[in-house]
Amino acid sequence: MAIRKVGVAGCGLMGSGIAQVAAASGFPTVVREVNAELLDKGLKSIDKNLNRLAEKGTITEAAKDEIRGRLKGTTKVEDLQDCDVIIEAIIEQLPAKRELFGALDALCPSSTIFASNTSSLTIMEIASATKRPQRFVGLHFFNPVPVMKLVEVVRTIATEPAVYEEVVAFGTKLGKTAVRAHDSTGFIVNRLLVPYLLDAIRALEEGVGSIEDIDKSMMLGCGHPMGPLTLCDFIGLDVLYSVCESLYEEFKRDEYAPPPLMKRMVVSGHLGRKAGRGFYTYDG
Ligand code: 3HC
Repeated sequence: MAIRKVGVAGCGLMGSGIAQVAAASGFPTVVREVNAELLDKGLKSIDKNLNRLAEKGTITEAAKDEIRGRLKGTTKVEDLQDCDVIIEAIIEQLPAKRELFGALDALCPSSTIFASNTSSLTIMEIASATKRPQRFVGLHFFNPVPVMKLVEVVRTIATEPAVYEEVVAFGTKLGKTAVRAHDSTGFIVNRLLVPYLLDAIRALEEGVGSIEDIDKSMMLGCGHPMGPLTLCDFIGLDVLYSVCESLYEEFKRDEYAPPPLMKRMVVSGHLGRKAGRGFYTYDG
């Protein structure tokens, strides 16, 4: 069965980006948020992105209107029931994800494919809330979703091979390079990225270099688009903290243990760019 209509649960930073990319790739797309205020905020950020692309001439005004026309926002979970694939990008908490998928499982036909954009939870733990673990995958996108070229397509021990191949093809239709990963906590990217970011924080704690010099070193010495401490701020210290806790819980390896400075930053609200302060301070 070909994927024709896309559902996205959650219209925050990741969900709005996924919905934008799906609509821009030609798929009629329904994006659901829990209330009108959050939905409005997410749709406004999509409009802002599309307007910027049109102003730069990357897309025409007509293309912008077509993309927007393919995108429908809703607060009703029932509006996702006729989608061929539903990609979940809600709060990174297992009980909330299991509850949502349990509800969707009861609503949707047995053919619907379910996908989670979780960055740190185990796909199988979420899939086991449904009666269709064979039609359940991980689809892990990267921030900012419209810009980053990668999607990790994650199979569990239960995912049916034909479903998996269909989702890999779908990832390509979204204009992303799809890489294949097993359902191992952190998949490929976070398994490798998180120890690097935590080591940058440890280097700062140990006085190896200043915030600016650690960042400059990796940008200019290794060609990274952002230094590691800027990237921590960009991801959000709270998000990173929960990813490294999941990795540490799974593997019990020191490289995943959260550095003390990070915990103190999280509890004091120094969460990075979204909070206006993290390793750096941000205006507006
Ligand atoms: N949404 C949409 N488009 C955006 C954007 C956003 N939030 N931010 C930047 N862009 C676009 C710009 O419009 C610009 O487009 P153009 O080339 O068509 O003009 C392009 O991206 C480049 O932007 P800028 O020139 O303003 O700035 P940079 O060249 O510094 O690029 C960046 C910004 C793409 C964010 C780049 O710094 C980068 O790649 N940083 C690393 C990001 C990264 O590592 N992300 C992954 C985080 S890990 C993750 O998400 C996994 C999770 O599980 C933790």
